Amino acid sequence: MSTRNVSVRFPVGRGRVLTAVDDVSIEIRRGETFGLIGESGSGKSTIGRAIVCLERPSEGTILHDGRDPHALRASELRRHRRQYQIIFQDPNAALDPRMTILKSIREPLDVAGEGSRADRDQRARDLMNRVGLGEGFADLYPHQLSGGQKQRACIARALTVRPSLIVCDEAVAALDVSIQADILNLLAELQQEFGLTYLFITHNIGVVEHISDTIAVMYLGQIIEIAPADRLAEHFLHPYTQALLSAEPVALPSGMRPDHRIVLEGELPSPMDPPSGCRFRTRCRFATGICAAEAPKLRELAPGHRTACHHAETFRLDPNLKEGSQ
Ligand SMILES: Nc1ncnc2c1ncn2[C@@H]1O[C@H](COP(=O)(O)OP(=O)(O)O)[C@@H](O)[C@H]1O
Ligand SMILES: [Mg+2]
Repeated sequence: MSTRNVSVRFPVGRGRVLTAVDDVSIEIRRGETFGLIGESGSGKSTIGRAIVCLERPSEGTILHDGRDPHALRASELRRHRRQYQIIFQDPNAALDPRMTILKSIREPLDVAGEGSRADRDQRARDLMNRVGLGEGFADLYPHQLSGGQKQRACIARALTVRPSLIVCDEAVAALDVSIQADILNLLAELQQEFGLTYLFITHNIGVVEHISDTIAVMYLGQIIEIAPADRLAEHFLHPYTQALLSAEPVALPSGMRPDHRIVLEGELPSPMDPPSGCRFRTRCRFATGICAAEAPKLRELAPGHRTACHHAETFRLDPNLKEGSQ
């Protein structure tokens, strides 16, 4: 799927408009895991919701298999939308507390009215088993499950309608680290088995570094860097990516010592009134006059590696360089 110059704006009262996603063009190849990272408030969930057709772009186009689902009639869009599922950080948002786990997982099929009741029941039970929830879980209620078990139920529920793409929006963020690893492994297995495409949204790059094929970095509604995952971790070119990576407590890029950490100072500016030119310039230690005057475009500086920084070539953010030694 791809997004072409997609912007999503929200009216926020008194005639004011907030631009949550600003001119984003990305391509997610079939069967790949596309990681999207950035601070809270950068617009990750909004672009994710637009991709699964829960949000209509204010400008630009969403294309799935070359077709724009938003151009479909409402009833067709509803049917089409099933191919794109989303899994949230909080499994309680997707599981009705008054429904048994089996019924919650079967519900999307019941709504779609596919096959006989017995077929739907069997499919739900098969998927429960597949995600590691044995028969004993069928008649339990969400409050009787752990966070990890509830997230497994949400995964099974998302799979019932045979989606082609799943957006995981901070799907493991609320879980203990060891449980996170179990769920990530499960998602990787399911991807192989069902040929799924993933958009993996997280504020924590450690989560996506190893499972992603491509990673994009988002800042104040825009993609500021995008690269093959193995390249980004070692050869990032944008000062914001450097700040994000070095804020990560566990996985420092190799060669980057703790005293190379850069603290991201100041707050994320308001998306209602973003800085002129480069949006990151108010927090960037390399900013110069051109950064205020001109918005940097994404430029390809290595195969598949694009970055939006006026000074990317000059600084070549080498993690071995000490602060100030550029
Ligand atoms: N429905 C909405 N109405 C108004 N503002 C919104 C709405 N949804 C998101 N926003 C705003 O858009 C910006 C991006 O939000 P979001 O996409 O949730 O970011 P992220 O997922 O990266 O934390 C934030 O400033 C948020 O407050
Ligand atoms: Mg979010």
